[in-house]
Amino acid sequence: MAHADHLSDEEKALLVRDGFVILRNAVSRDVRERAKRVINENPQMIVHGDNDAINGLYNDSILAALLDEAMGPHTRPINAQVAVTMPHYADAVVRTPIDVNNVYAPGAHVDGGWAGLCPVAQSEILASGQSLHSWGSDGDPQSMGPAGHAPLWQNRERTVAIGSYTALVGICLNDQTRPGKGQFSVRRGAHEAVEAFFRGQRDEGGPIGGGGPRWPRLIPADDDRAVAGTMPRAMVDTYPDTRFEGEDWPWPELTPTLMAEGDAVLALHALPHTATPNLSDDPRMNVFFRIRRLRPENPYEGDPRIGWGVSDHPDRALNGDFLEYPANYDPYQTSVDKMCDHWSEWSGMQDFVAEIRPMSATE
Ligand SMILES: [Fe+2]
Repeated sequence: MAHADHLSDEEKALLVRDGFVILRNAVSRDVRERAKRVINENPQMIVHGDNDAINGLYNDSILAALLDEAMGPHTRPINAQVAVTMPHYADAVVRTPIDVNNVYAPGAHVDGGWAGLCPVAQSEILASGQSLHSWGSDGDPQSMGPAGHAPLWQNRERTVAIGSYTALVGICLNDQTRPGKGQFSVRRGAHEAVEAFFRGQRDEGGPIGGGGPRWPRLIPADDDRAVAGTMPRAMVDTYPDTRFEGEDWPWPELTPTLMAEGDAVLALHALPHTATPNLSDDPRMNVFFRIRRLRPENPYEGDPRIGWGVSDHPDRALNGDFLEYPANYDPYQTSVDKMCDHWSEWSGMQDFVAEIRPMSATE
């Protein structure tokens, strides 16, 4: 049976508890087939802009109305992340196959940070009198990370180091019901710990994100290198102990979203997530949309420069360019306020949030 155009009470309770919920039969076959025809022409694409067939997975399914109800009005996606993990690859980005008998444990992340291998060697950073923790504190805010996705700082004042949105929506385009298919996987229930960590950074005076309090911008890696984008130990240590108990799943701290074709997953920005190695002989095919609740004061809602639907830093242009804002709207502080009170962006969830987290009503 096709999914309703709104969340059930049970689904809302799960979203509040776990930070994500799986929506069964959210996208119909005809809409899926139309998108898959486009993807199969180029299965390794990462970003596919301005394609109605792919964006239709969201815009022409019940998902847009469902988010309108649960979250609120929002700019419709005009871009998507097509995430095909080929057999025996770790994710859709890394271009080296894995040894399926000796697979590393993937680390879950929160989107929006400058991530990847730092272009400066560890020894060089230390020799210059800087620390791995604060490296980049005087860096060019517009520098895009080695992984290419997010700028070093969100704002020129360098007080916010992580981009954000409201909801990640992933559509499953082939069978991912058995663990090991490269499933999108999450630290179930860790969204509240992440929000609390952001609040703590704000209360300590910031910056928010990597390079801020208790979150080293870089951590040491092999061969005198340093890497950015991993979640800090001080944050990870506060995640709840939710484990996935299942056979053939080597990473129990991660919960795989086991989905059939046409299912979708809805997750909060604050929920740590990761692709997982595809141990199967089939590609894993998903399409992700990043959705942010409408901000009526924001003059760039719908502006194609933002990359609505794919960007994890929608206060800036997708390519990192700064945008000018009216004096009465501070997009960066607004984003911090939302990261520190994430349920405030979910109009249709307030009864459920108040039930499970009574304090939120006062904040
Ligand atoms: Fe991500």
